[in-house]
Amino acid sequence: MNDLVNDHNPDFFQTPQDLREAKEDYGTNCSANQTMGDIIQRRFSRRGFIGGSLAVAAIASTVSPLALIAADEARAATISTFNFDEIEAGIDEKHHVAAGYDADILLRWGDKLFADSPEFDPLKQSAAAQEKLFGYNNDYVGFVPLEGNPDHGLLVVNHEYTNAELMFPAWAKVGKQMVDGKEEDAVIMGEFTKELVDIEMAAHGGTVIEIRKVDGKWQPVLDGKLNRRITANTEIAISGPAAGHDRLKTKADPTGTKVLGTINNCAGGVTPWGTWLMAEENINNYFAGEMKEDHPEFAAFKRYGIPGDDYKWSAFYERFDVSKEPNEANRFGWVVEVDPMDPTSTPVKRTALGRMKHEGAESIINKDGRVVLYCGDDERFDYVYKFVTAGKFNPDDRAANMTLLDDGTLYVAKFSDDGTMEWMPLVHGQGPLTTENGFATQADVVIGARLAGDLLGATKMDRPEDVQPNPKTGKVYCMLTNNSKRKDEQLDAANPRAKNKFGHIIEITETDMDFASTKSTWEVLLKCGDPSVAEVGASFSSATTKNGWFGMPDNCTIDTDGRLWVSTDGNNKKDTGRTDGIWAIETEGELRGTSKLFFRVPVGAEMCGPCFNPTSDTFFVAVQHPGDAGLSTFEAPATRWPDFKDGMPTRPSVVAITKQGGGRIA
Ligand code: FEO
Ligand code: CA
Ligand code: CA
Repeated sequence: MNDLVNDHNPDFFQTPQDLREAKEDYGTNCSANQTMGDIIQRRFSRRGFIGGSLAVAAIASTVSPLALIAADEARAATISTFNFDEIEAGIDEKHHVAAGYDADILLRWGDKLFADSPEFDPLKQSAAAQEKLFGYNNDYVGFVPLEGNPDHGLLVVNHEYTNAELMFPAWAKVGKQMVDGKEEDAVIMGEFTKELVDIEMAAHGGTVIEIRKVDGKWQPVLDGKLNRRITANTEIAISGPAAGHDRLKTKADPTGTKVLGTINNCAGGVTPWGTWLMAEENINNYFAGEMKEDHPEFAAFKRYGIPGDDYKWSAFYERFDVSKEPNEANRFGWVVEVDPMDPTSTPVKRTALGRMKHEGAESIINKDGRVVLYCGDDERFDYVYKFVTAGKFNPDDRAANMTLLDDGTLYVAKFSDDGTMEWMPLVHGQGPLTTENGFATQADVVIGARLAGDLLGATKMDRPEDVQPNPKTGKVYCMLTNNSKRKDEQLDAANPRAKNKFGHIIEITETDMDFASTKSTWEVLLKCGDPSVAEVGASFSSATTKNGWFGMPDNCTIDTDGRLWVSTDGNNKKDTGRTDGIWAIETEGELRGTSKLFFRVPVGAEMCGPCFNPTSDTFFVAVQHPGDAGLSTFEAPATRWPDFKDGMPTRPSVVAITKQGGGRIA
């Protein structure tokens, strides 16, 4: 989900979606945790980004346009580890991939998933039809091979949220409205009905779809026995320390152990045992209703931005009204585990991993056999977490692995200016996490993980998004997408720029490749933005071309060679002169800090879900909310809905990228 309008960009007119995004991520962390701004000597990166002849320019943190041209020439003489020709950054209504590659749309919103799926008709949508069609706003994409085949498997896809103004052409139209006495372009929307809300709920959640490569091209298998839709109404179990707790009990579920639906599933992960993790992110937006000070969750909900009051679901479903169902919001904000191999299985919300605005849940098997999961809490000034299972992964007993995520230790990160860091356990009874401080049990700790992090003095970060372990190097990459609200007095070494519009990437080194380590080190890998503009303070290596830099890192993945690929959310004409896309990042050797543009999305879209198949010869990427940009961001007419003139609203899609003639992606 982007936040273009958070900086009050005048190029964008306000839609309900804009307003929603303006309100999200505004930061609800009022704790007194220091941002280390009182530390006068601020630490920037402890290590130059590159060595050798390119280091001088990089140390300056910025490079001139001339240097960029020189760098373009220098690159020709330098061996990139990424074997593709960089594309031109820019903005238009199409997607672009490097020469010699095909980028084929595999699945779009409304595509059939089952043999009996109805035809998609954007003018005659229904919830019943949507439940059998690919959902909206594809975000996380994972691939689970079938019988070890890299060319045949299950694609698991999160459907994060809905853009009503883009989805319903009969309901929202481009028109004119008066603003300050002037007639301006606007999206004119109708009244929400239960029918519309039901379609939205059916378009949320996720999809499991069997796919296979036939003659070099990927295809969905419509009669795949494992195909499945999960929606905002699917029955889901609750397990772990908060299961059955009073704060999770509702009128519909007096046991506090089962809940209808999962929402705002942003990034996620696939576990070593082949289950799919769906991370519930901006769940506050779905709740509305009056919050009085005597509400039992008044303080806790405030910390979570509840009620966010953006969707209209509460008008038709009481459980989304906090004044009528005070605990329902405690049943969202978790990581949901799904077994894609059994379409009848009940997904499970794993409460041991804590409740927050979960961006993702990427995992790795530690050298001692325990499994470690990394999670960002995507809000300005919120925290980075990891979870270490108590039990060990058993490659020979999948059933035993199915409960690993119910028992373990959740940690929150504290980054020190000297480049060390501490993972602090969120355990009831330890340190300040006591009954006197509002944590009577471990259930209270996980339900209020943010509040527990506040008490422990965790480091307030610039919107932590995907956090990705690299099994080849032992490094962990943390995407920090931006934070335009950080002030000079709130700077620290891990968040070194005020009004951080373009974000940065932190590299964590877990001690001795022990991912369960509680003492680690870190450094800034990249400060994002245009390195030719000194005030931006970006720090790409000087071998990075004018196309190679980017802003707003969001998701990422590691290929089978242990190399980092980053997708972005929020690049635009005004701020970066480019759309979002996929950049390949050098993290090792002389070229460390060099970035190279591989793929870019149509105007208004966000880039999500980068995922390689196991042989890294297919790259699945997710184009989310194409067309979701102001009319003035691109000169072509009807940009907001690029294909609207053909009677079809814009359609988020999953794209399969392959190399022409076959072979590894790069
Ligand atoms: Fe849904 Fe933090 O992006
Ligand atoms: Ca994201
Ligand atoms: Ca990822």
